[in-house]
Amino acid sequence: MSEERVAMISGASRGIGAALAEALAAKGWRLSLGMRRPEMPAWADPARVGVFAYDAVDADASDRWAEETLRTFGRIDAVVANAGIGIAKSVIEADDADLDGLLEVNVKAPRRLAKSAWSALASSGRGRVIIVASLSGK
Ligand SMILES: NC(=O)c1ccc[n+]([C@@H]2O[C@H](COP(=O)([O-])OP(=O)(O)OC[C@H]3O[C@@H](n4cnc5c(N)ncnc54)[C@H](OP(=O)(O)O)[C@@H]3O)[C@@H](O)[C@H]2O)c1
Repeated sequence: MSEERVAMISGASRGIGAALAEALAAKGWRLSLGMRRPEMPAWADPARVGVFAYDAVDADASDRWAEETLRTFGRIDAVVANAGIGIAKSVIEADDADLDGLLEVNVKAPRRLAKSAWSALASSGRGRVIIVASLSGK
């Protein structure tokens, strides 16, 4: 098994997730990028970067993605739960459906992702879970 570290990054299609992916690739990480519409980034070396279907609202998506990552790379050293949404409404303006969507993507999905990769992260010996969140998320 290759000793080169592997990170899973959710929401890697744009924004912070895409920038983080490029930065980690430049530091020598191999990457498993989770996206709603998987597309290989222009800068990526397909031998070192895989793109996989991942929708945070699908409760089974993290298990499938972690399994595909292990099949492709043989290890997982870090999970970056970056996919997230914001609601441009106050807590008074928002309704239950808004809050349900927010909790599903920003809270429940990151926990599922950590759980799906947990045993591989433990095997890594230096596994890390990074959750990207706003101050209000914290
Ligand atoms: N930028 C900021 O100032 C700021 C501040 C506080 C917190 N954050 C947090 O930082 C993270 C990244 O922010 P950003 O500014 O880079 O956001 P962004 O540009 O809006 O990108 C969000 C990413 O999350 C993905 N995503 C959204 N819903 C998803 C779902 N259901 N399943 C899978 N992927 C999904 C998007 O994919 P698609 O391309 O498919 O839509 C996109 O890749 C988020 O968690 C956000 O809450 C950002």
